[in-house]
Amino acid sequence: MTAAVVLTFAATLLQLQSLLAVSEKQPNIVFIIADDYGYKDIGYHGAEFATPTLDKLAAGGLKLENYYVQPICSPTRSQLMTGRYQIHTGLQHDIIWPSQPYGVSLEYPTLANVLKEHGYSTHAIGKWHLGLYKREYTPLHRGFDTFYGYWEGGEDYYTYYNCDWSHKAEGGDRSSRLGNENFCGYDLRDMERQVTDKNGTYSTLLYTHKAVDLLKGKTAADKPFFLYLAYQAVHSPMEAPESYIKPYEHIQNKYRRIYAGMVSALDEGVKNVTDTLKQTGLWNNTLLVFTTGITRVSLHRLYLKLHPTAKLRLGLELRISLGQGLWMRLKIGLGMRSWDWDRGWG
Ligand SMILES: *[C@@H]1O[C@H](CO)[C@@H](O)[C@H](O)[C@H]1NC(C)=O
Ligand SMILES: *[C@@H]1O[C@H](CO)[C@@H](O)[C@H](O)[C@H]1NC(C)=O
Ligand SMILES: *[C@@H]1O[C@H](CO)[C@@H](O)[C@H](O)[C@H]1NC(C)=O
Repeated sequence: MTAAVVLTFAATLLQLQSLLAVSEKQPNIVFIIADDYGYKDIGYHGAEFATPTLDKLAAGGLKLENYYVQPICSPTRSQLMTGRYQIHTGLQHDIIWPSQPYGVSLEYPTLANVLKEHGYSTHAIGKWHLGLYKREYTPLHRGFDTFYGYWEGGEDYYTYYNCDWSHKAEGGDRSSRLGNENFCGYDLRDMERQVTDKNGTYSTLLYTHKAVDLLKGKTAADKPFFLYLAYQAVHSPMEAPESYIKPYEHIQNKYRRIYAGMVSALDEGVKNVTDTLKQTGLWNNTLLVFTTGITRVSLHRLYLKLHPTAKLRLGLELRISLGQGLWMRLKIGLGMRSWDWDRGWG
C-alpha cells in the first residue's frame, strides 16, 4: 500500500527547522487526506487523467514515494490520529461500521489534542470514521474546535445518505441488500448539528467551500491552526458532476471515467485551498500535506478470515479488492464454495 504524498512548504526545510525550534511562530498545518485514492491515480505517476495541482505541488515540494498506509479507512485514520500502529489500539480488524458500538479508545490523545495543547486551533472537515456510538468519540470531543462533515465511512456524494450494509436490523435478510432500511441514515453535521440543506451539493465542492471559508477567516496574526481536510473523494460510490467527467469521454470504462472526474474535482479542490492560502498570506508559514488514506489499485488486499458463525460455515474467506470500492469474495468452507461480488465501504 505504497502511497503518494506531497509535502509542500514555501520555505526550505532549514527554515522549517528554525520555525519549529524556538521563538518564531509555529507553522499552520493543512493535512489533506483523499479517500481510496490509488498510487497510480496521480499525474506524475502516469494517470490517464490530469492532476495539475497535485503535480505542481509535488514538483515544488517533497514527494514521499515509499511509505505505507493501511488498506482500509479506520485503521489508517486511527494511526494518523493516535500515532500508534493499529494492532495496539484494537483497530486492526476492520473499519468501524455505523452500527458498531466501537471507536478509537479514549485513552489515546489524538493529534488534534496534542496540537491544541501546543497552542493550535484545530479544525476537521469531511470524513471522521473513528467512532460515533457515543458523543465522546466524535471529533469535537477528540481535540477539534470545529467539525463539518460526516461521522461514518462513506455515503452518497449528493444526498449524504448511507446504509450499514454489513449489519442488518433484527429480522433483516442477511443475504440481500434489501430489507435493512432501518440501518440507513443521513450523515452530515456542522459541529454536532445535522445539516439538512445541502442535499444535491457534491461533497468535494462542499468541503472545499468550507475549507476556503475557514481559511479566509484566518490571518497570519492568529494562533497557528491545524486543518484536517478529509475529503470523501474518491471513495465509492462512483459519482461526480458531469462537467468533471466530460473531458474524459475517451476513457472506455464507465467507472474509470467517473473516477477521473472525481479526481479532477479533488484536484481543483486542492487548488482552491492552496490559492486561498496564498491570497491570505498564510502560505509561507503553512505546512501542507496531501496523502491518500488507502490505495486500492490492484489485488493488494488479500486476507484470510475464519468465519465467525463456525459450524458448516467454518472456512476461509479471501477478500480481494479490485479497486474503487469493488470487492470480490471467495469463500471456501466445508461443503460450501461460492463467489460473491460485492461493493465495499472500506
Ligand atoms: C435528497 O434528494 C434526493 C433526490 O432529489 C431525494 O430522493 C431525497 O429524499 C432527499 N433527501 C432528503 C433527506 O431530503
Ligand atoms: C473552486 O473555485 C471555483 C471558483 O470559485 C469554483 O467555481 C469551483 O467550484 C471550486 N471547486 C471546488 C472543487 O470546490
Ligand atoms: C510571510 O510573509 C509575511 C508577509 O509578506 C512576512 O511578514 C512574514 O515574515 C513571512 N513569514 C515567513 C515565515 O517567511
